[in-house]
Amino acid sequence: MCLYEKMTKAELETELSKLNREYTKFQDMKLNLNMSRGKPCPDQLELSSDMIDKINYSQLAKTDSGIDTRNYGELTGIPEAKKFFSSILDVSDDMIIVGGNSSLNLMYNYVDMAMQFGLLGNTPWNKLDKVKFLCPSPGYDRHFAICELFDIEMINIEMTENGPDMSQVKNLVESDPYIKGIWCVPKYSNPGGITYTDDVVKQFASLNPAAPDFRILWDNAYVIHHLSKDHDSLLNIFDECKKFNSENMVIEFCSTSKITFPGAGISALAASESNIEDIKKIMSKQTIGYDKINQLRHCIFFNTTEKLENHMAAHAKILKPKFDMVIDKLNEQIAPLHIGKWTNPKGGYFISFDSLKGCGKRIYELCKQAGVILTNIGATYPYKLDPNNSNIRLAPTFPNIDELSTAMDVFCLCVKIASVEKFLSKN
Ligand SMILES: Cc1ncc(COP(=O)(O)O)c(C=O)c1O
Repeated sequence: MCLYEKMTKAELETELSKLNREYTKFQDMKLNLNMSRGKPCPDQLELSSDMIDKINYSQLAKTDSGIDTRNYGELTGIPEAKKFFSSILDVSDDMIIVGGNSSLNLMYNYVDMAMQFGLLGNTPWNKLDKVKFLCPSPGYDRHFAICELFDIEMINIEMTENGPDMSQVKNLVESDPYIKGIWCVPKYSNPGGITYTDDVVKQFASLNPAAPDFRILWDNAYVIHHLSKDHDSLLNIFDECKKFNSENMVIEFCSTSKITFPGAGISALAASESNIEDIKKIMSKQTIGYDKINQLRHCIFFNTTEKLENHMAAHAKILKPKFDMVIDKLNEQIAPLHIGKWTNPKGGYFISFDSLKGCGKRIYELCKQAGVILTNIGATYPYKLDPNNSNIRLAPTFPNIDELSTAMDVFCLCVKIASVEKFLSKN
């Protein structure tokens, strides 16, 4: 039970005055801190500097298989880059299309293609009365933004600690032919850091959708982004789908944005042979091929699995202390008061914090007034509407450890102030 709940009005008022005095001290510090950006920090970007410094023109001009990377061609990517992604995603090379620097771009293009041209000969979605997507929430705001742009109706699906609530998913997908898709971040989800359990993956694979062109958009953005050796593992959804002949239902995405450079990485999608052919037809009208020099650069840099593993361990070495710092502050300052709950992920880029119901926007405002920017409240829900006004996505990766420490002290204080105010308003 929340300790503030047991306090009298007078006790709450005394507590609030004390907290406000601390708050004023932070305001006087004129802080300018940001915990909203899911970006790698400069030290992480430095880990890939040799990819530019140490790989020269003659290495980059031609692949071992003789492809001139400088010229047009290789629509779906050079074989080396397909192999790189197929080994990360554990699928066969011919299931891979390599894209440009953004997997979000591949996702957008896929939805756009479904809208305008239809999938595997089905009616284009924009010719239907309506299109609906299931959105496990809290989730990734840019997935929801794509739906909003295309006027795709979004339906909230509750995220449990095992992944999306699969009974809700199954009931809806198997009964409503207007439901055409679901957004999934199956490993270290954004923002909860949740990895779907084997049972959830199996239930996805065994879905029997009412729509013949229903798609699971499996955004595996954090596939190898562990924080330590003690990490989660995710069942291979394509292997499960094979058992139900449902491989066409899944399109998987990933990128090196948080492995090398978000601004200059490479991305990929993985799909069944039929889906690859379907996508190629449209893609071939968009481009003659993506940046093959960058594809080769990545493959030379990560020429062994061990190199990639060591590189991800170096990222983890930078990130783990930051995640630990956030969790420690929450455990010390918030846990004893029972005024919030949060996730403790083993990988990914975020921690999901839930305040007491109705306190989210107030915490955001208080933090802002004290110079700490958080992700907008509501950003983690479709239409930016958090039904509980409580979910806050904490992004510990970008600030340095000292900034993060101060930002978390401010955050915890603001959580306390908003919680005391909530109980006072009830009194
Ligand atoms: C779940 C998820 N998918 C995709 C992206 C963006 O990926 P990319 O940089 O490959 O476009 C992000 C970035 O934060 C993300 O969190």
